[in-house]
Amino acid sequence: MAPHGEGSDASVEAMVAQVEKHPISSILIIIAMQTEALPVVNKFQLIENPHSSFPKGVPWIHYHGAYKDIIINLVWPGKDLTFGVDSVGTISASLVTYASIQALQPDLIINAGTAGGFKEKGAAIGDVFLVSHVAFHDRRIPIPVFDLYGVGLRQTYSTPNLLKALNLKTGKLSTGDSLDMSPHDEASITANDATVKDMEGAAVAYVAELLKVPAIFVKAVTDMVDGEKPTAEEFLQNLAAVTATLEEVVTQVIDFISGKCLPEL
Ligand code: ADE
Repeated sequence: MAPHGEGSDASVEAMVAQVEKHPISSILIIIAMQTEALPVVNKFQLIENPHSSFPKGVPWIHYHGAYKDIIINLVWPGKDLTFGVDSVGTISASLVTYASIQALQPDLIINAGTAGGFKEKGAAIGDVFLVSHVAFHDRRIPIPVFDLYGVGLRQTYSTPNLLKALNLKTGKLSTGDSLDMSPHDEASITANDATVKDMEGAAVAYVAELLKVPAIFVKAVTDMVDGEKPTAEEFLQNLAAVTATLEEVVTQVIDFISGKCLPEL
């Protein structure tokens, strides 16, 4: 018998390799806003799971269904219990990602949603990005190494074949808990070399990495952060049209994934 450490390392690697050889059978889509989620729910005729294993009383909603050979789970953090609006931002995103992975054990996570884009970096309204890297722009900790922890730069799960097949744009995503952009945020976003800006991506990536689930990020641009129009106004103006585009691309992603193993993406 192999020495204990050696043997267990080898068997873990073998198990991972085995999992990677199987076609993807279960995905988890995390979407923060109801307006973004419902087109996908309707497209795949997902139904709400009234018996989700989420704690009693939380607003988190689990939709599920089958499409081709894939179990699709979609989790929306729901409406804030106090304020009645979508639970956007990194806190809710982290919590639902953690609870959903524990409950559903997905092969792959897709974090889909809207984002602000930088025209200077080649983004335009309605573009859909398959994100290459994520980082935070509002966690400034100017102490050696804590600074890097705060930024939390992570590479997303690499899907070169998916990127090529769908002909999507790619770029880096910067995440923070504000829709607007303060001068401090702007400096960090520039340092992060971001093309798109959202309020959840890097948080989902953190939890996915913690629990060792590959994650990809599909972000559709509703507003130009470096444009002339006020962000909130432009975001609301484009939300309906852009979420329709987002649904189309999420459908294309799922169609591409169907029947494939992770390394084939
Ligand atoms: N989602 C859509 N537009 C955004 C922006 N400008 N910043 C953060 N999240 C967004």
